[in-house]
Amino acid sequence: MFFDHLPQDGFICAHRGARSIAPENTLLALEKAKEYGADCWETDVRMSQDGELIIFHDETLGRTTNVATHKAFQERQPWQSDQFTLKELRELDAGSWFLRDDPFDTVANGEVKPEEERIKGQKIPLLREILDYTKQHCFPVNLEIKDLKTPPGDVTVVDRIMEMLQETETLDHVLLSSFRHEYLYRARTLSQKIDIGVLAEHEHPPNLIHYLNKLSATAYHPEVSLCDLNLITRLRQAGFRVNTWTINNKTRAEAMLRAGAGVITDWPQRFS
Ligand code: G3P
Ligand code: CA
Repeated sequence: MFFDHLPQDGFICAHRGARSIAPENTLLALEKAKEYGADCWETDVRMSQDGELIIFHDETLGRTTNVATHKAFQERQPWQSDQFTLKELRELDAGSWFLRDDPFDTVANGEVKPEEERIKGQKIPLLREILDYTKQHCFPVNLEIKDLKTPPGDVTVVDRIMEMLQETETLDHVLLSSFRHEYLYRARTLSQKIDIGVLAEHEHPPNLIHYLNKLSATAYHPEVSLCDLNLITRLRQAGFRVNTWTINNKTRAEAMLRAGAGVITDWPQRFS
């Protein structure tokens, strides 16, 4: 399963791919994560208007695509990603914004060459494309299922993801996580084998170990301010892995790695 492909102790997980040197959640960011030695990567799954599974972080398209300058889409603000069909989404340029905004100053400092033509050509990937890469390169992926804000009980996205994992034969290279724990319960109902990571941002679920056991979770994914070395030790002793996010400070990353945690970072090229 997912963790069988990773070191027993700490490991590096590239957050949205190597997003400090390539546009996040693109095939290029995925390739760079692998090239620079990350042990695995984390990415975000959403659904298009016509029900296709796509790799994209935000609810809206403005920050990481050229939708605002695309003539046909100007009337469609705020450009909700779930209001666009796959065909429309694939018309967008999901790379050039990275050169313009230089979110990690890696263009300015020369780490990324602006003449890198492949950056400009990046598209929003399909889940299927990144799973094909996963299989071909044996590069494990943590799929974070974004909360699609559907009514409670609507877990269609999970059913579709699970079908695709079966079809692409990638179930044993994937860890599913989500802030919407209802999705994780659904995944567990559909498969006893899939690895599951419980995401937490502001507070731990009450009775944490009991909670993780109830879900047969493999891992706990606390935001870094919720995570300390005692928590990692306690959970590891109870049989759970801990992957914490987002750690961009090297000293902190090293301490977490020594304690046996997975470190989800924007800088895999510096930490691997
Ligand atoms: O999976 C951990 C982390 O990616 C969750 O936050 O906003 O970066 O998707 P976000
Ligand atoms: Ca994420």
